[in-house]
Amino acid sequence: MTASAVEWKLRSSDKNAGEGVPDWYAGLAHIWLPYAQMRTVRPPLPVVRTHGCRIVLSDGRELIDGIASWWTACHGYNHPHIRAAVEAQLARMPHIMFGGLAHEPALTLARRLAGLLPGDLGRVFFSESGSVAVEIAMKMAVQFWLNRGIAGRTRFVAFKGGYHGDTTGAMAVCDPEGGMHALFRGLLPEHFIVDLPGGEESAAAFDRLLDRHAGEIAAILVEPLVQGAGGMRFHDAAVLRALREAADRHDLLLIFDEIFTGFGRTGSLFGCAGAGIVPDIITLSKALTAGTLPLAATVATAKVFDAFWSPDPARALMHGPTYMANALACAAANASLDLFEQQPRLRQIAEISAALEQGLAPCRGLPSVKDVRVKGAIGVVELDRGADLDAMRARFAQEGVFIRPFGNIVYLTPAFTISPDELATLTGAIVRVVACLSRP
Ligand SMILES: Cc1ncc(COP(=O)(O)O)c(C=O)c1O
Repeated sequence: MTASAVEWKLRSSDKNAGEGVPDWYAGLAHIWLPYAQMRTVRPPLPVVRTHGCRIVLSDGRELIDGIASWWTACHGYNHPHIRAAVEAQLARMPHIMFGGLAHEPALTLARRLAGLLPGDLGRVFFSESGSVAVEIAMKMAVQFWLNRGIAGRTRFVAFKGGYHGDTTGAMAVCDPEGGMHALFRGLLPEHFIVDLPGGEESAAAFDRLLDRHAGEIAAILVEPLVQGAGGMRFHDAAVLRALREAADRHDLLLIFDEIFTGFGRTGSLFGCAGAGIVPDIITLSKALTAGTLPLAATVATAKVFDAFWSPDPARALMHGPTYMANALACAAANASLDLFEQQPRLRQIAEISAALEQGLAPCRGLPSVKDVRVKGAIGVVELDRGADLDAMRARFAQEGVFIRPFGNIVYLTPAFTISPDELATLTGAIVRVVACLSRP
């Protein structure tokens, strides 16, 4: 056994894991955790069950979930309608390859997505994770120009504070610091990562950049309304309108990455619809299956699709993940869309928004707090500096909640089905924990 495996074995009986550490927890010695320095990270909490907005730990404790599993579980965990749809699909056919074969859940889902998205965003390419959906959007954009006989457009304009995934193509369009561009120099292609054009000055600088480099650029790529994992920063629809106009003026494609903002998170079903803008390509994932199974979609307009429509096989989009359009995942996504149709989700999101405003307001005056902001079902407390994240996370667990701050950002992205009492427990915990940070 290696030194680190021994260490994990010892640490797996750490009190942080709870009293009733189950036998299977020994497997942790063979796990490599996400975003974690394995030598120093606190062992993760052992989870045995979920229901509604609750996470049940092996020692019997229940935590109220403030994050909804990285914003995916928008209808809460184990929703009976989604479960029934997945179980029925499992009995019929869990998966079939999508090359040369098609199936009802995928085709129904594609038709429904096309009906929900604005404009003529109507051609759906399925994959199985957000990062891959972004990679596909980037390939689509580059090949769009090649298929039109225009070479050399292989670079992208993306924005500081943005996050688009962890694969190399996606990392290269993330915020340079968050995307570790310096660490991976040589591996990552170099794109234009600039400030979002806000005021007149930055808009003029943005325009100059496009003037100089339009011939090298395939597309502008942005998370509309909210830059999520890069820092939960908000911008308004005017910024997106400016990007649409700039893209049109310089004949560039515009890609909206709605992997975070899609399916109600910002208050309308999609950020683009809320902002009244139709991008040329949109990426979706996360809440697409309501946190049940991995699935993503890259959806293109007719203009983009038409550039691939040809008798020439070389003009096809050369991509095809093994698990694309997985039937179980598509069944979950269709069931999730049923719930958006049948349940008052947008009203619930508006109520969550009001409750987040009120519940987080006491943080505003605290010395350690730089900003408090809310959009849709996203509540953010930005601290004036980074805190001891592991200690904060443990403190939240002691408060009976699961909240996972990153950098200097403490945030909530709860399920839309959360009760007012559960939400008040989450905001109350944040106020108490952040107030402790503020004490000298
Ligand atoms: C806007 C955005 N794009 C892409 C991704 C990457 O998705 P995945 O983690 O499924 O690869 C994320 C994940 O947080 C995201 O928020």
